[in-house]
Amino acid sequence: MRQAIFKLRQPTPENSLLWSDSLEALIKNFKEENNNKIHIGWNLQDSSLTPKEKIELFACIKEALINIRKHANSQEIWITLTDTTDGWLCSIEDDGIGFDPTSITEGKYGLEIMKDRAKEMGWKLDVTRNNDRTKVQIQKETDTK
Ligand SMILES: Nc1ncnc2c1ncn2[C@@H]1O[C@H](COP(=O)(O)OP(=O)(O)OP(=O)(O)O)[C@@H](O)[C@H]1O
Ligand SMILES: [Mg+2]
Repeated sequence: MRQAIFKLRQPTPENSLLWSDSLEALIKNFKEENNNKIHIGWNLQDSSLTPKEKIELFACIKEALINIRKHANSQEIWITLTDTTDGWLCSIEDDGIGFDPTSITEGKYGLEIMKDRAKEMGWKLDVTRNNDRTKVQIQKETDTK
């Protein structure tokens, strides 16, 4: 606690404005309310994303995490964001109860909005279930744009 206050009092370092820092803060926040073990792996530079991409991708990751918290009943979560030859690949996976993405009832918006965001950005979004894991995968490939 004391250390947290000490940190707050320190002048804001420039790099605290980085997108990856905001994402880390989101994950940290999430961790505090959820006992899941979270595995993170990313090697994407902030500069590889446009400001609009940062906003949209952040919103998608956030909704995926909220969904895990609300519905998955999981123990572990894997979040990755990696460079590919022609873009990047982001995935948010959990080992929870899973669901059938083809039979979502009316009145649910989170996933639909995520799909709309991805479509507008020209990204590929897939929700799959494999090896007892639910995976939301978002991919940018420059040649599909
Ligand atoms: N990670 C997950 N694990 C298990 N079920 C999930 C997961 N993500 C989504 N679901 C299921 O898919 C449904 C649709 O998700 P969606 O985000 O669209 O709606 P919601 O979270 O119920 O409501 P909201 O509109 O507030 O987002 C959920 O109601 C839930 O049954
Ligand atoms: Mg939701």
